[in-house]
Amino acid sequence: MKTATLLAAASLATLSFAASDSEASGPPDSLFSGKSGEPADAPNQSGKQDLTDAELKAYDGSDPSKPLYLAINGTIYDVSAGRGFYGPGGHYGHFAGRDATRAWVTECWETEDQLTHDMRGLVEAMFLPKYMDEELSDAADGKAGADSSLGDLKDQAKKLVSKFGRPSRKERKRRREADRPEAEEKLEQALGKWVSFFAAGGKYPTVGKVVREEGWEESAPEPPAVCEEARKKRPIRGGGKLDAIMNMPMQMGGQAGVVQEDDRDEL
Ligand code: HEM
Ligand SMILES: *[C@@H]1O[C@H](CO)[C@@H](O)[C@H](O)[C@H]1NC(C)=O
Ligand SMILES: *[C@@H]1O[C@H](CO)[C@@H](O)[C@H](O)[C@H]1NC(C)=O
Repeated sequence: MKTATLLAAASLATLSFAASDSEASGPPDSLFSGKSGEPADAPNQSGKQDLTDAELKAYDGSDPSKPLYLAINGTIYDVSAGRGFYGPGGHYGHFAGRDATRAWVTECWETEDQLTHDMRGLVEAMFLPKYMDEELSDAADGKAGADSSLGDLKDQAKKLVSKFGRPSRKERKRRREADRPEAEEKLEQALGKWVSFFAAGGKYPTVGKVVREEGWEESAPEPPAVCEEARKKRPIRGGGKLDAIMNMPMQMGGQAGVVQEDDRDEL
């Protein structure tokens, strides 16, 4: 019931956005007039316009005489046709005038610092599986960074660790390395969904690329930690003896240890 109401509200909001869209008519002619005295970031003869992150900011919709741009994964799109979505006050207005690739994946946009192209640490924070036996060991040892929900269960964790075992440092390293390719693939897929929406959707023309200095990472501050909602999406595995328990079928009628119909082919 609650969900239905929310969805209805979302559709209504969209309708009113769509209504205001009819006034948006794409980039103003002046952009293509080729008059002398063009700004340095005006499109060149091929119609391409490469911009720095700072220059891109001018196209966030706050100046209604300018087209509306957003970038994702380094490619700039003209989203003027979606001014209702991306313009000031629009539901997705925070994506305008910037390359917020990180936030397209994390869906964290409560704070401005999340709206960055900086993808460092994202595989680890969202896509690399975490292992219960490691979390339990860390909680039992009172280690900072242990799952906070386990932190006050130190004694309980100790008992579980003695029962299920303690993964060695080497084993932890092995897992990180073994899991990484798939985690990176998952990140590419999550981003790829949005990249193809803009690149292949046919709705928004490509403007150009974001110009960024090689090695920008070295002088850039570390990106923010992802928000809690995003961290919750990280896959969880048991690890060691806990795998058997974590993999128990939970659905109704499912029986632990009994091969399900669908799994038979793989055996
Ligand atoms: C409960 C969550 C969400 C709801 C209810 C919701 C709802 C909607 C609705 C109703 C539309 C209009 C669709 C249309 O008329 O074509 C829309 C568009 C859009 N949504 Fe969401 N959305 C949600 C989550 C998200 C998230 C997490 C993202 C991005 C990470 C996102 C990005 C977009 C974008 C970019 C558009 C505009 C697409 C365009 O430019 O045509 N949405 N959303
Ligand atoms: C125009 O910009 C595009 C994209 O940055 C670039 O590849 C192209 O070489 C430029 N052309 C001219 C004539 O400057
Ligand atoms: C994002 O851009 C990088 C190059 O900058 C590219 O290697 C990668 O495949 C792109 N990802 C997607 C999902 O398009």
